Amino acid sequence: MTHPAVPGLVAPGFVVYPLSPESRPQILEHLLRLPPEDRRLRFGVPVSEETIAGYVEKLDFSRDAIFGVREDPSALAGFTHVAQLDDAVELGLSVDALHRGRGIAQAMFRRALLHARNRGFRQLFMHCLAENAAMMHIAREAGMRIVIDGSDRDASLSLPPATMLSVGTEYYEGQLVLLDWALRASVPHALPATN
Ligand SMILES: CC(C)(COP(=O)(O)OP(=O)(O)OC[C@H]1O[C@@H](n2cnc3c(N)ncnc32)[C@H](O)[C@@H]1OP(=O)(O)O)[C@@H](O)C(=O)NCCC(=O)NCCS
Repeated sequence: MTHPAVPGLVAPGFVVYPLSPESRPQILEHLLRLPPEDRRLRFGVPVSEETIAGYVEKLDFSRDAIFGVREDPSALAGFTHVAQLDDAVELGLSVDALHRGRGIAQAMFRRALLHARNRGFRQLFMHCLAENAAMMHIAREAGMRIVIDGSDRDASLSLPPATMLSVGTEYYEGQLVLLDWALRASVPHALPATN
């Protein structure tokens, strides 16, 4: 698919970037762009701007994996938090309203799954509200087991052990990030200010 921000840049699907603490301001802006209803779907309860700011401030980049997709170099189109539990991970993700329905959430979901599997985690969890039809669809497509608890849905997926192929695929995705970065750097104004 072609990057609108970088004419001519062709990548198989979306390039999902691992994010570093320098991306906190962009993560915050992305989450604050979500309308209140989407924030409720993302966090499971209505959340204030202050709560979101606190959440972003507390993101632990050394323990958890944080991924993002950028269609515009200055903003995140999608954000995924892969929170580490004991021997499992819990996934939370969101996509800007402008960029929905193009597979960004599924690309981030696949990247999170690969990350968790390659580090030996055996389960991936996701908490959804029943009315979150798009997320429930993604969960079902991924073969997740869905437990109904009132208006809540707890989805879980058993992760297979890492293989040479899964490790190689993650390495390849890392190379794609570097290639994407290099191509953006060669196009004026296409490089994000922070990674
Ligand atoms: C849920 C969300 C992440 C989806 O992002 P997205 O980038 O639009 O998702 P994708 O394009 O990757 O995939 C959406 C899929 O859901 C399907 N879908 C969308 N709306 C649907 C609906 N009302 N009913 C059933 N399926 C639906 C799409 O057809 C697509 O499936 P397909 O590729 O098989 O056709 C986004 O809507 C969002 O950020 N919502 C607010 C936050 C949130 O709910 N986060 C999840 C909680 S952890």
